[in-house]
Amino acid sequence: MMNQELEKYIRSIKNFPKDGIDFKDITTLLKDPKGLLQTGNALYDFAKEIPIDKVVGIESRGFFYGPLLAMKLQAGFVPIRKTGKLPAETVHQTYALEYGSDTIEVHKDAIAPGDKILLHDDLLATGGTARAACDLIEKAGGEIVQISFIIELAFLNAREKFEGYDLRTLIRYD
Ligand code: PRP
Ligand code: MG
Repeated sequence: MMNQELEKYIRSIKNFPKDGIDFKDITTLLKDPKGLLQTGNALYDFAKEIPIDKVVGIESRGFFYGPLLAMKLQAGFVPIRKTGKLPAETVHQTYALEYGSDTIEVHKDAIAPGDKILLHDDLLATGGTARAACDLIEKAGGEIVQISFIIELAFLNAREKFEGYDLRTLIRYD
């Protein structure tokens, strides 16, 4: 089921960044006061009953709502970054892309063993990025209690990669 109320704020750009891709642009949602607030409230509603120590956001677009959610949940915020950006000791995770691979990192001391983690990003496409983020958080000792996204490209069937996790999305494209 589509969240019609929020879907209207999303702009679709055909053939960006390459041919055949229908890019889902959330900047039109963020710039609208109602879109920004309603989305934040809806993401907060997913998590408000669950004890959460830290919200972990994935660079870059997971940084828009990650800290806002953390503030509302009275949790800390931790960034997962692309490799080479974090200055202190890190844990890293490499994952496969369509062509080649990518590596993400988190500070070793950012997640304490047993920390209850809400993982957040803007968009679930193939799920490769979020899956690697889950593996990274668990390697660092965190316990993932929820994963939330604004948008799910449901036709890519990424949910299969997250069996046993509480995965929530606001807007789904079938
Ligand atoms: C996009 C999006 C998600 C990821 C989803 O990020 O923001 O993080 O791709 O794709 P997946 O489910 O197939 O892994 P992108 O790597 O384009 O970088 P950005 O957030 O820095 O724009
Ligand atoms: Mg991203």
